[in-house]
Amino acid sequence: MNNKTVLVTGGAGYIGSHACIELLQAGFKVVVVDNLSNSKPESLTRVQQITGKSLSFYQADIRDKQALTEIFAKESPDTVIHFAGLKAVGESCEQPQLYYHNNVYGTLVLTEVMSQANVKQLVFSSSATVYGESSCPQYTEDFALGAINPYGRSKAMIEDILRDLSAADKISPTESPWKIALLRYFNPIGAHESGLIGEDPNGIPNNLMPYVAQVAIGKLTQLSVFGDDYPTRDGTGIRDYIHVVDLVKGHINAIAALNSEKFAAGACKAYNLGAGRGYSVLEIINAFEKVTGKTINYKISPRRAGDLAECFANPDLALKELDWKVEKTLDDMVTDTWNWQTKNPQGYI
Ligand code: NAD
Ligand code: UFG
Repeated sequence: MNNKTVLVTGGAGYIGSHACIELLQAGFKVVVVDNLSNSKPESLTRVQQITGKSLSFYQADIRDKQALTEIFAKESPDTVIHFAGLKAVGESCEQPQLYYHNNVYGTLVLTEVMSQANVKQLVFSSSATVYGESSCPQYTEDFALGAINPYGRSKAMIEDILRDLSAADKISPTESPWKIALLRYFNPIGAHESGLIGEDPNGIPNNLMPYVAQVAIGKLTQLSVFGDDYPTRDGTGIRDYIHVVDLVKGHINAIAALNSEKFAAGACKAYNLGAGRGYSVLEIINAFEKVTGKTINYKISPRRAGDLAECFANPDLALKELDWKVEKTLDDMVTDTWNWQTKNPQGYI
């Protein structure tokens, strides 16, 4: 036990549950706050089974200020990792108010409660979607922001709010200024190597990897490859896929950085969490076929609105300041996805 407590919002979800494992294994006391709007409590049961350690769970909405205030008073966290949020791009276009209320207002309430409890260390789940379209496909943190859908804009707005909070500390200095890491994820895939926890999307998946996995297991009949006429090496879209376990390790390193002298008091800094190289849709299909021995039934379909041809991270800043880089390979990502999918064909039930 390292005597530090981390409060994890959205800790029952896909990335949050993997983060809980790393936190428990690193000796942190873990407190999860999740309203279970997109997750099941079984994920947390399995986290405790994998680690042999227990955590505290509160089923609460981050917009419920009274509930959050009581949890902070009871648990006295040192740091917050803020995963809670809605994340479906299409749904955000249909129901923008829901996304701004849940993601932006939810974060406002969370930071108000944090201020009142004097808990000023925050690691936030941002996204590569905050970047605007760029002529260079490899994104560095100083690229212009320009999200193109309500989900991405909710993340960009939250980043603005968090930057404003840390700037306010400089105007009226306090004894415990904010220290905030904005982690911009590229494309998280994969699962814990135990196959006990993984991504459990509701309904038909929007994202490539869970869709491919469900075609491979026979739940879905055919994958649509959205466009084969992009200016890429094989015409299909290229993304920077990152193993979820590598991704959550970046959060542990971010906490270490926030606790160090090197991270300036009052700073709010963005870091890309990606591998720094991309794979095309066809390369993902080939890797899946190689690892599983299954043939993925697919057809070429029209481009999906809003998709970029190519997008991958420059992760140099995370290496330099967080001492973090990916360790796992595409084969690991596919093997672990398949292990989770075959052991849990219906997800958490
Ligand atoms: P997820 O849906 O599996 O997990 C999010 C969790 O937050 C869920 O358990 C949900 O029940 C909870 N939640 C949502 N709104 C809440 C609220 N108001 N109060 C309390 N709990 C609430 O999603 P994930 O893939 O684990 O993503 C975690 C975070 O990372 C999200 O903020 C997401 O936007 C961000 N992100 C995800 C990806 C990705 O591809 N998965 C990419 C970039 C960024
Ligand atoms: N794709 C298909 N068929 C599908 C699904 C996806 O061909 O059925 C293609 C897409 O066109 C794209 C690639 O696979 O070229 C990856 O698509 P995903 O939907 O898996 O991922 P995105 O890059 O579109 O977006 C994801 C998350 C966002 C997040 C972003 C960056 O959905 O929320 O990564 O982190 F912000």
